Amino acid sequence: MPTIPPVTNIYFTVCSMQFINLQKQYRLYQSEIDAHIHKVLAHGQFVMGPEIAELEALLARYVGVRHCVTVASGTDSLEIALRALKIGPGDEVITAPFTWISSAEVIGLVGAKPVFVDIEPRSYNLDLDKVEAAITPRTKALMPVSLFGQMPDYARINGIAARHGLPVIEDGAQSFGATRNGARSCGVTLIGSTSFFPAKPLGCYGDGGALFTSDDALADTLRAIRTHGGVKRHHHPLLGMNGRFDTLQAAVLLAKLPHFDAEVKARGEIGARYSELLRSVCVVPEVERGNTHVYAQYTIRVPNRDAVAAKLKERAIPTAVYYPKCLHEQPVFASAGCKWGDFPVAEKASREVLSLPMDPFLTEADQQQVVETVKEAVKG
Ligand SMILES: Cc1ncc(COP(=O)(O)O)c(C=O)c1O
Repeated sequence: MPTIPPVTNIYFTVCSMQFINLQKQYRLYQSEIDAHIHKVLAHGQFVMGPEIAELEALLARYVGVRHCVTVASGTDSLEIALRALKIGPGDEVITAPFTWISSAEVIGLVGAKPVFVDIEPRSYNLDLDKVEAAITPRTKALMPVSLFGQMPDYARINGIAARHGLPVIEDGAQSFGATRNGARSCGVTLIGSTSFFPAKPLGCYGDGGALFTSDDALADTLRAIRTHGGVKRHHHPLLGMNGRFDTLQAAVLLAKLPHFDAEVKARGEIGARYSELLRSVCVVPEVERGNTHVYAQYTIRVPNRDAVAAKLKERAIPTAVYYPKCLHEQPVFASAGCKWGDFPVAEKASREVLSLPMDPFLTEADQQQVVETVKEAVKG
């Protein structure tokens, strides 16, 4: 039996420095956010109010596709995408074992089987040399994740998919705003999916998500599934769900969107600065050629991860572990038939990664304090 390294018990530490400073962001944009929210309170169209269509048009243009369909969460958006592609029992969908549970959970929810493919160690995204070998006659889609905020090589992924007649769904929950060779995340595959969870690069004040596509017929299906299987009231041609995005949350994003480019730029600069200062003491995230990275998480790797996290906590610096276990280790996916050792790169990453405080407003002084403490802690 292989020895499975222990799973950390330090998932998330809470300290006086914030891991992500959402209050600072609110204070900066308060007048705009409050005004947009009050507009909704005044018109009273809380479900599918005019802010939804306004936001969808802006987001579609931002991503560079014909359609944006906002939804209730980034989990719902992935599930709606799979349902729209008629993926169900007996089907397989390829995804990563090192990601948030949603990426594989939704595959199970539609009755299909998640098929995991190991990641590569520099970007934590799918190892594209291994994808083709995992495709079987039952494979119905590829669903790669753009983990931590940078995209894998979707030109190559789309090429593999085209050779096998498969659709590609980008799980861009963490990468909204990132680019690869100038193309924006969520706009480079048949369907792109993102999340507006508060901690995400474009976060609202609750749950939310969106789907993106340039396929008109598919967009109609996505919209219908989001709204109980039909867009006309009391007419339900499809099996759908209540997956609508909240109008108040759309109002929050309408206020935040004009600031998003500046935030993405700041994220890139803060991430690059962390990497420059930490490269000599630990493994830092590598930005692949042609990519911009939005650092939804700024994640380093250290063999003595729990000790480093504990030292940072002692100095009131919060950290988080994304993700302490791979998905094939989760009991819910036991039926996928995988075992420890099947995905060695992902498994090693899960025992070594540590995410540091990161948001567009992190001050240089706070960042310096984080860096100095990491340097000290890594030495042990
Ligand atoms: C990679 C990934 N996929 C999907 C999701 C699901 O998004 P949500 O939390 O909005 O349902 C998340 C959220 O953390 C995520 O990180």
